[in-house]
Amino acid sequence: NGNYTVTLIEGDGIGVEISQSVKDIFAAAKAPIDFEPVDVTPLLIDGKTTLPQEAVDSVNRNLVALKGPLATPVGKGHTSMNLTLRRTFNLFANVRPCKSVVGYDTPYKNVDTVLIRENTEGEYSGIEHTIVPGVVQSIKLITQPASERVIRYAFEYAKSINKPHVRVVHKASIMKLSDGLFVSTAREVAKEYPDVKLDFELLDNTCLRLTADPDDYKNVVMVMPNLYGDILSDLSSGLIGGLGLTPSGNMGNKVSIFEAVHGSAPDIAGKGLANPTALLLSSCMMLRHMSLNTEADKIEKAVLDTIASGPENRTKDLYGSSSTQHFTEQIISRL
Ligand code: IPM
Ligand code: MN
Repeated sequence: NGNYTVTLIEGDGIGVEISQSVKDIFAAAKAPIDFEPVDVTPLLIDGKTTLPQEAVDSVNRNLVALKGPLATPVGKGHTSMNLTLRRTFNLFANVRPCKSVVGYDTPYKNVDTVLIRENTEGEYSGIEHTIVPGVVQSIKLITQPASERVIRYAFEYAKSINKPHVRVVHKASIMKLSDGLFVSTAREVAKEYPDVKLDFELLDNTCLRLTADPDDYKNVVMVMPNLYGDILSDLSSGLIGGLGLTPSGNMGNKVSIFEAVHGSAPDIAGKGLANPTALLLSSCMMLRHMSLNTEADKIEKAVLDTIASGPENRTKDLYGSSSTQHFTEQIISRL
């Protein structure tokens, strides 16, 4: 039928409801996408969390996936499925834009930031030991190749969105070797991009300045090690109304997985209260990645217009009274 096939990982908890919303809206918008749902319930093989092979095959075949929230299993031997996915497909750059929704007021006006998070190492390397009871060591692993590829991605991304300014967020004043390597790698990569401005900022100062004056971050692309990006992206989301509103893309050389950053919200799952916006905006990022800009613009505008239209059309997390389904119908009526 000429459509593209995309792997759909609906996710846990509210994942089913927000995925349904995406499917309904894509169908109504006549977006040329066929979703291929896969199950990623983790298998524990030889004490290691393993993805079902069918899911891996589907993503490798389609090269693009859309993913809802996956609960992180508690207990020994299980690692987060979110991380397993990033690792399995070598999704080294996590792009996290954060833009105020016009018509949904927060104390911050016109926030428009983007950060790129190193997505494969740092404190997320999963290397931890108990040395003796009461003394543990968690390794923060930083390598030159992983730093270089994410920094180069940030430079290319900055050029592509016409914001020729990269800001490296770090704490090399304390993490002299690890963040020092990230910083020196950035200086090296920057030599290949004479038209892109490069500057550096200490993470704590970024938190302070981003909340004091987000306008200063409008025309820069921030890039940083893994954990800093995890934290700073939640902070950025908080400026515009929370994780229910921010998309993200996990980018590799071959495969990309677009995902909502929020959790599976088991407390409201199945109640028709979930906000599908983050997954919807992630799906728009996905469409743009596939060069389906017309469809992306159309869906994104309908989503944002619906949120702007008033509390009766907003979900509870946005202090509204709308159900997931009513919100979805309102978006469809604006397509
Ligand atoms: C995120 C999430 C994940 C992370 C969790 C769910 C493992 O918080 O995507 O930001 O820490 O990276
Ligand atoms: Mn996070």
